[in-house]
This record gives sequence, structure tokens and C-alpha cells, in this order.
Amino acid sequence: MDFNYTEEQEMIRQAARDYAQRELIKDVLERDETAAYPTKHIKNLSELGFMGIMVDPKYDGGGMDTISYTLAIEEISKIDSSVGVIISVNNSLVCWGVEEYGTEEHKEKYLRPMARGDKIGAFLLSEPEAGSDATSQRTTAIPDGDFYILNGTKNWITSGGTASIFLVIAQTHPELGHKGINVFILENDAPGVSIGKHEDKMGMRSSDTHSVMFTDVKVPKENRIGEDGFGFKFAMETLNGGRIGIAAQALGIAGGAFDRSVQYSRERKTFGTEIANHQAIAFKLSDMAVRIENSRLLVHKAAWLKDQGRNFSTASAMAKQYAADAAMWITTEAVQIHGGYGYVKEYHVERLMREAKLTQIYEGTSEIQKIIISRSILKD
Ligand code: CAA
Repeated sequence: MDFNYTEEQEMIRQAARDYAQRELIKDVLERDETAAYPTKHIKNLSELGFMGIMVDPKYDGGGMDTISYTLAIEEISKIDSSVGVIISVNNSLVCWGVEEYGTEEHKEKYLRPMARGDKIGAFLLSEPEAGSDATSQRTTAIPDGDFYILNGTKNWITSGGTASIFLVIAQTHPELGHKGINVFILENDAPGVSIGKHEDKMGMRSSDTHSVMFTDVKVPKENRIGEDGFGFKFAMETLNGGRIGIAAQALGIAGGAFDRSVQYSRERKTFGTEIANHQAIAFKLSDMAVRIENSRLLVHKAAWLKDQGRNFSTASAMAKQYAADAAMWITTEAVQIHGGYGYVKEYHVERLMREAKLTQIYEGTSEIQKIIISRSILKD
């Protein structure tokens, strides 16, 4: 066992940290207020190679491991988790799925521009009535000659308004349940695709969340990924990796709130001393540090298992559930440590608390992670 990062892992962590602490910090509060998409930052981070960190260099990716990816997401999310989720979805829900299961044509045509960040990808699984209950897909994909015809609505789509490449999950054979579901690569300008309103979210406000509607959209048969009926398995396998990214994001949000709390506790004085000298505050810092350390160990273990080619579905569910719940607790305590200052925007911790909440909801709620974990315990 080796807890040291490799030179390459350290390098990517430092690059992400430098960019976040030098550039993202400048306008993160403004973007939280206006919910403006971080166009300039995504362009810069694309040039630095962050949109395809794990993709094989032969498709213009960074060729790095999953640990490097989690370090990058953690550092970016310490400052700005809206940017963190755009990078995470592009890398682990879209690029990974196409690279792992797509054809050579899919990789040349779609993976390469996404890995470079020239095009952004989105993952279209959730529906108005199929969030946690993801097998209940109502979007249909009916075969018609050389095409499938897509009809339906997808909800809560990260990068829904900016992505030009969609991975769409849809039901082809309802009588087969989840075994009748397929996944397709679709470009956003296909006739019949319309983008719904921009969601006005509580947190991660500058990530771009939309619904997407399909009316008789023709998708060529060669754009289906895998065998007929592979779509649900594809979605689950892809989400296993996505959840490592969201766990790393939660770790970053928690770390951001922790760093600010330590600094504030050293500076703020009450009753004649810095508040860090009060046990009530010092113990909070201690509890925060332990939960951050636990989160990090779970995130790195899941990432390591994935890099070893071993089963990581339970490990990623554990990492996501623990890190998200820890981030919610840590950010709430950070607001408490800051008192009245924590409740106003310029101290950042109320924003981090709003952002932490989403990590308990998307890519599978904390309750869904417990379903996955408990089923793996009880299956034998
Ligand atoms: N890894 C691999 N396979 C999995 C899996 C996992 N984590 N979870 C389920 N499966 C497989 C099962 O093995 C089963 O396959 P077989 O029939 O071949 O055995 C199949 O999927 C169906 O599973 P279940 O029978 O367990 O179905 P279920 O309906 O009881 O439960 C569920 C399924 C685990 C709850 C699933 O619906 C789920 O994960 N729901 C949450 C969906 C989710 O995470 N949505 C996030 C949306 S994407 C998003 O947020 C992106 C974004 O933009 C940020």
C-alpha cells in the first residue's frame, strides 16, 4: 500500500489548484449571483487538458488515471463546484462511456472533440418521472429503417443548454423492462430537439441545467452504443464512475469550507481570544478534519479499484454517499463557525453549503447509494 501521489498526480493537483485559486476565485461570487455559464474558464481549462483528463492520448485526452481526475475535481470544487460538475460530467459520464463502449467511429467523431473540450457532452438519463427510479424510462426510441425515432423529455441535464453531444437513454422494448433500454449518441442540432428553460438552482448556479425535449428525432442506428438493450447497463456502469467524480466534488466543497473555517477561527476573537481557542470551535474543526480524511480515503479507494480494473460499484456508492453527507455536515458547521458572517455571501461558506446539498441529490441520491451498498452486502 502506498499513500503517496505520483509525480503526475501531484502535477495535475497543483495545476488544478493554481487555476482555481488564481482564476476561478475572481468571479465565483458574481457567477453564483448571475448564474452565468463559466465560458471563459471552460475554454481555459480545456486548453489545460481538463475536459478529457482520463481519455487515451490517441483521442487527444490526457491519459491520466482516476486518482488524478479526482484530485483535479477536488481542487476545482474547493473554489467552484459549478465548474467541477461540468468537467466531471464531460469526463466520467460522457467521454468514459464513449471510450469504453463506443465504436472506433464514435470515438473519432465524438470522443476526440469532447476530450479536447471543443465540444461539451451531456448525459440524458433523468426524466420528469424517472429520477431515482431510473428503469422507468418513458422516452422512447422506436426502430424505423436505418434510424430510431426518439420522443420524450429529459430533466435536470447538466450542460443541457451548452452541450452539443448528448448521450440519450431511451426505452425501445417496454415489455423487456430495463433490458429493453438503449443509449444513443445524438447531436444537439438534430431536427426535433428542443431545449427547455434554464433551471434557477439553489446552488452550483453557474452550471447549466436544462430539460431537453425530443419530438420525432431521427437518430442513425449506428449511433446506438452496444447491443440492443445495453442502455441501462451502460447508464449504471457509467454512473459508477461518475459517482467517484461527485464524491471528489463533495470532498472539495468540504475542503473549501474547512480551509475557510480554520482561517476564520484563527482570526476572529471572542471573549478575549481567537475562537479557535474555544473547545466548542476546535472540536468542530477536529470533526471536520476526520470526515474529510475519511471521504478522501473512500474516494481514492474507489478510484484505485477502477484503475486496477476491479469491481468498484459498491466502493463508488460508499464514497459518494459518505463524502456528500460529510460535505453537507461540514459546510453547515462552517456556517455556524462563521456566525452571522457565515450567513452572508462574501464569506463563501453559505454558497458552499448550498452546493453541498446537490451532491446528496444528483448522480444518485444518498438514499440510492444506500440501496446499492445494502444490496451488495445482502446479495450472497
Ligand atoms: N452497477 C452496475 N449495474 C447495476 C448497478 C450498478 N451500480 N445498479 C444496478 N445495476 C444493474 C443490476 O445489476 C440489474 O441488472 P441485471 O438485470 O442484469 O441483473 C439492473 O441494473 C437493474 O437493477 P435493479 O434490478 O437493482 O433495478 P432497480 O430498479 O431495483 O434499482 C437503481 C436500480 C440502482 C435504483 C437505479 O435505478 C439507480 O441507480 N437509480 C439512480 C439513478 C441515478 O443515479 N440518476 C442520476 C442521474 S444522472 C445525473 O445526475 C447526471 C448529471 O447531470 C449530474
